[in-house]
Amino acid sequence: MWSGATASRSYDLPVRIVDRLIATSLPVVPRPVVRRFADRYMAGERLDDAIATVGRLNRLGASATVDVLGEFVNDREQAAHTVEQYLEALDAIHRTGLDANVSVKLTAVGLEIEPALALGNARRIVQSAASLGNFVRIDMEHSGVTDETLDVYSTLRREGFDNVGIVLQSCMRRSVSDVRSMAKLQPRVRLVKGIYVEPPSIAYTTPAQINASFERLIEELADIGSHIAAATHDEQLIAAMQRVARERSLTRDLYEFQMLLGVREGLRDRLLASGERVRIYVPYGDAWYGYSIRRLKENPSIAGYVAQDVARRLVGR
Ligand code: FDA
Repeated sequence: MWSGATASRSYDLPVRIVDRLIATSLPVVPRPVVRRFADRYMAGERLDDAIATVGRLNRLGASATVDVLGEFVNDREQAAHTVEQYLEALDAIHRTGLDANVSVKLTAVGLEIEPALALGNARRIVQSAASLGNFVRIDMEHSGVTDETLDVYSTLRREGFDNVGIVLQSCMRRSVSDVRSMAKLQPRVRLVKGIYVEPPSIAYTTPAQINASFERLIEELADIGSHIAAATHDEQLIAAMQRVARERSLTRDLYEFQMLLGVREGLRDRLLASGERVRIYVPYGDAWYGYSIRRLKENPSIAGYVAQDVARRLVGR
């Protein structure tokens, strides 16, 4: 679940300290309480839960991308199990006729065991999706696996799979050159700010820099004729995507917006009402606890959002 955000970068210091305190105290928070935090941002533990959520989103006019929770898998059996879960998800999407594809983290299918294992596993998922007329998005993880992730993506494309896309992070200084080096592939790119905290030597760290980079990457991707999925809840960046679409007469099959389940639903509904395409990221699975804790610790701003949300609900009672 990308129910995280990079917004901590725009927070002032006291807020950041509070976020960090909340985040570090999370492991002692009882499971049911973490579950309450996580509930809003994930479909549930079972595939049926994800399918029901996608159905609801489709009825609202949004499409979805389904993510089987789990990452940093370090045994082959677990990686194989994750692949099976993706194959089941693709089958269920096909059977139910829902408008959804899948998003895969390569570390969940063995990238940190051996890149060749992740490539083979990703190939199985992409192959199955291709046979069902569906699409697979490869998520982008921390900078330690960026090269390997791009390699798996490019290899699959060179093997002739067109139903696979990639993610680029605007916080990463390298992203512009990644766009240029992939230009020939005309990649379908989900553009995000980037959730992992990376060192300034390789990453932009201020909100202004990250947003400027995001806007530049939209232009660069439009230059090479990529399909662009602007995955952000930041209205400035949504407006930037819409401006580029207008200026370059991009039709709606050439770009879309993507948002996280449970985040800024009002904005989602406004975009849908204006005729934009919106895809919602729908995480599900039994790995929700470890995953939520890791995400929260990785990026304490999420803890801030969660705490605000819980406080709002309590006050609302
Ligand atoms: P920002 O963090 O500035 O948020 C803008 C506003 O949205 C905030 O002010 C807040 O109001 C609201 N908001 C954002 N997140 C929220 C939350 N969790 N709860 C409540 N409110 C929230 N990253 C990555 O490194 N690799 C990846 O593959 C992906 N994949 C991905 C897919 C999709 C569909 C999305 C939407 C995001 C990702 N991300 C990701 C995460 C991304 O990098 C980024 O961390 C988040 O989208 C938050 O950044 P925003 O652009 O929304 O801006």
